Amino acid sequence: MESEKKIMLSGIQPSGDLHLGNYLGAIKNWADRVNDFDCYYFMADLHTITVRQDPKELRRRSIEMLALYIACGLDPKKNTLFLQSHVPAHAQLGWVLDCYTMFGELSRMTQFKDKSAKHKDNINAGLFTYPSLMAADILLYQPHYVPVGEDQKQHVELTRDLAIRFNNIYGDVFRVPEPYISKVGARIYGLTTPGQKMSKSEPNGCVFLMDDPNVIMKKFKRAVTDSDTENCVHFDKVNKPGVANLMSIYSTITGKSLEDIEKEFEGQGYGVFKPAVGDAVVQTLTPIREEANRLIADKEYLNSIYKEGAEKASYIANKTLRKVYKKIGFYQL
Ligand code: TRP
Repeated sequence: MESEKKIMLSGIQPSGDLHLGNYLGAIKNWADRVNDFDCYYFMADLHTITVRQDPKELRRRSIEMLALYIACGLDPKKNTLFLQSHVPAHAQLGWVLDCYTMFGELSRMTQFKDKSAKHKDNINAGLFTYPSLMAADILLYQPHYVPVGEDQKQHVELTRDLAIRFNNIYGDVFRVPEPYISKVGARIYGLTTPGQKMSKSEPNGCVFLMDDPNVIMKKFKRAVTDSDTENCVHFDKVNKPGVANLMSIYSTITGKSLEDIEKEFEGQGYGVFKPAVGDAVVQTLTPIREEANRLIADKEYLNSIYKEGAEKASYIANKTLRKVYKKIGFYQL
């Protein structure tokens, strides 16, 4: 029975194009989660406008990301996929939780400190209260687990604090969720900056899921290897971070062990190894890109997924919201 599975919920900001790091580190493993959890994923478009967005790009990504998630194996029949702005309860509970979140708590959030340092000309109130909206996103669905990366753990901690605070005043309204740190998933670094996580802010070292095969090959051929003259495919994270990163990518994709990869390329050097990794990546991403493009051409289908998702999400979210409104004393008709 689906309703007996534990609930898992996560949000993704449609503010950047999806890349190989997102895929191998996370998305690739999401398809299988439906076996154990009742899964909700939403595009957090309300969150993206805390930083100025180009309206056309935001609209494009909001639909392209849905297509890509489905193309990566997320089954829209088994997962609830929706767009945050289609479910008004997020903004509604977000406001309520603003009134239960302390100025001091929000001031301590590292993401706020980082982003306000980066966007000095636009330190808006939304950027500051972002964690209350994120808490609302989560608590509306009464999830058991919230899968997040390291950078979002502090926000989930705050969500727990808010849920407990609210429950202490009004009785059991919210389930207190646990952060879920995935045990599977590779950590992929930039091809040009192997010291940093792969990121869209370094586009030359970032392989986007929608990149053409020739662009992917070029990026791999230009990947940084190492500064020694050894020219040998050997796993050494400290001294050869670029080579180690390429090996992890190849290993994650092919399922081969690091030792087997060393053997496979013994005596062959980077000139052979780099295009081989590029080729494996192209093999993996081509069907995903093609399927995504096919879906993007079928707007009606994607719209229907968003519509169904929003209906299912709204039903659950509104149940929680009604309870909250009642508890805090809003007059009910
Ligand atoms: N803040 C998250 C991020 O930037 C995105 C997000 C918004 C989210 N709401 C969420 C993640 C709720 C998990 C649950 O990555």
